[in-house]
Parts: sequence; structure tokens; C-alpha cells
Amino acid sequence: METYMDLTAVVTGAARGIGRSTVVRLRAAGYRIVAVDISPAVADLAEEGWVVPLPADVATAETPGDVVDRAVATFGRLDLLVNNAARFLRRPILDTTDEDFDALFAVNVRPAFRFARAALPHLTEVGGSIVNVASISGLVGIANQSVYAMTKGAIVQLTRQLAIEYGSRGVRVNAVAPGAVDTDFMAETRAADPDPAASLAITLSNHPIGRMSTPDEVARAIAFLASPDSAGITGTILSVDGGYVAR
Ligand SMILES: NC(=O)c1ccc[n+]([C@@H]2O[C@H](COP(=O)([O-])OP(=O)(O)OC[C@H]3O[C@@H](n4cnc5c(N)ncnc54)[C@H](O)[C@@H]3O)[C@@H](O)[C@H]2O)c1
Repeated sequence: METYMDLTAVVTGAARGIGRSTVVRLRAAGYRIVAVDISPAVADLAEEGWVVPLPADVATAETPGDVVDRAVATFGRLDLLVNNAARFLRRPILDTTDEDFDALFAVNVRPAFRFARAALPHLTEVGGSIVNVASISGLVGIANQSVYAMTKGAIVQLTRQLAIEYGSRGVRVNAVAPGAVDTDFMAETRAADPDPAASLAITLSNHPIGRMSTPDEVARAIAFLASPDSAGITGTILSVDGGYVAR
């Protein structure tokens, strides 16, 4: 694997799932990383001089600026922001409250905006990039995901907007749009289904490759969008969905 020495990254939602796989893959590529998560389990990622875990809630007003400052103070520069932390909500709209709406936007959308705002001056200095984690739910309609889908649609548009605003300043901004990925997030959602086996069968039949993606497959796409291999790519929403949106 090609490595990129002296590059640094901030990854949110790093304690498990796609975020953890992203930390592992970026670390293997030579990045120094500040790994953020509300879960104390993020501490497992600690590696002297390489990975600094920060247990923090991305939804507070202070966290994004504090984390970016910490990354720059610790490693001297910031090359990559991965906005990955999010919560899922599958709920028919008539059962969805204003509190559900506010809570989901507070975690899935506003922190990505605030992290980008804090990181962009540093990314501009080094020609860095942002990779946002969207979802197929931000690209196509999926029943009973209205608010979650709206949050992911917002992430898609944040990606396009920043790509245009910062293209001439040398900062690339892209997103991945995963389909079903085999993570705890997915397992917990499935366990709450009245018939988990039937729900899994429907999920698999909707993905032409007939299986869920792995967290590492999404992490590889994130690493690609961060790397010079994608130097000509910005404003792209890269589906990692086993063909879901091609149907
Ligand atoms: N798993 C899937 O099938 C799937 C599909 C499409 C998109 N996604 C997206 O991928 C991303 C990662 O999903 P995952 O499956 O790895 O989920 P996950 O639940 O396994 O991991 C998400 C991480 O984010 C953290 N987090 C949540 N709220 C936080 C907060 N307020 N502050 C800090 N950290 C917080 C959690 O503690 C967790 O470690 C999310 O943006 C999700 O919307 C996942």
C-alpha cells in the first residue's frame, strides 16, 4: 500500500463500524489521526504519536473547533476531515416527533458543517480534503427514513457546495454513500425489526451483489477519496452500495 507520510486526519464516529475501519486504513496509509467519538471505546485506538482518541460529543458547539485545534496543535497540520458520526432513525413520519427531527439534525448535520468550518482554513494551507459519509438514503427514497434521509441529503449538498466553494483553493470535498454495511449500527437496527430474518432478506435482495458491504470496503473508498489517486475528483458522491442505486 502506498503511504503518505506526515499527513494528519480527524475522523468522527471512530469508536466502531465504518469510522473505526477508516482509522485503521488511514493509519496503515501513514496518517496521524485524531479519532473522535462519544463512546469511551474510542480509547482503544490510542497509539503513541499516531492516533489520539478524543471522547467527545460532536453535537456540542465547542467540540468541532476544539478537535481541529487539538489536531493542529498535536501534529502541526490538518490534511483530512472525515465527517462520519451519525445516528440512524427508521420511523414512519406520523410517529416522528419534532424532538426526533432536532436530535437527528443535531448529530448528523450540524457537526459536519461546524467541523468543515473549523477545518477549512487548515485544509486550505496544505491542499487537504474532506470526505463526508452520506448514505444511499440521501440519494434515493427509502420507506420510513424521512428524517434520516433528509439529514443525509443535507450531507450530500454540503459536499457539493463546499467542493464548489473551495475547488479553486485546492481543497477537494467528496462523500461516500454506503448502502447496507455490516456494522453494529445495522445489527441493532435489524434486531429491532419485528421479523429480523425477513428484513435481512429484503435488504440483501435490494443490493445486486447479494450481500452487505463491509466497513473496510467503505473505509477503502474514503481513503481513495482522500488520496492523490483521486486528485481530479471533487464534489462526487461515491456510492459504496453493491449496486443499490443502479437499480
Ligand atoms: N451501517 C450502514 O449500513 C450505513 C449505511 C449508510 C450510511 N451509513 C453511515 O455511515 C456512518 C457510520 O455508520 P456505522 O454503521 O459505522 O455506525 P455505528 O453506529 O457503528 O458507528 C457510528 C459511531 O458514531 C458515534 N457517534 C454517534 N453519535 C455521536 C456523537 N453525538 N458524537 C460523537 N460520536 C457519535 C457512535 O458512538 C459510533 O461509534 C454514519 O454516518 C451512517 O449514517 C451507515
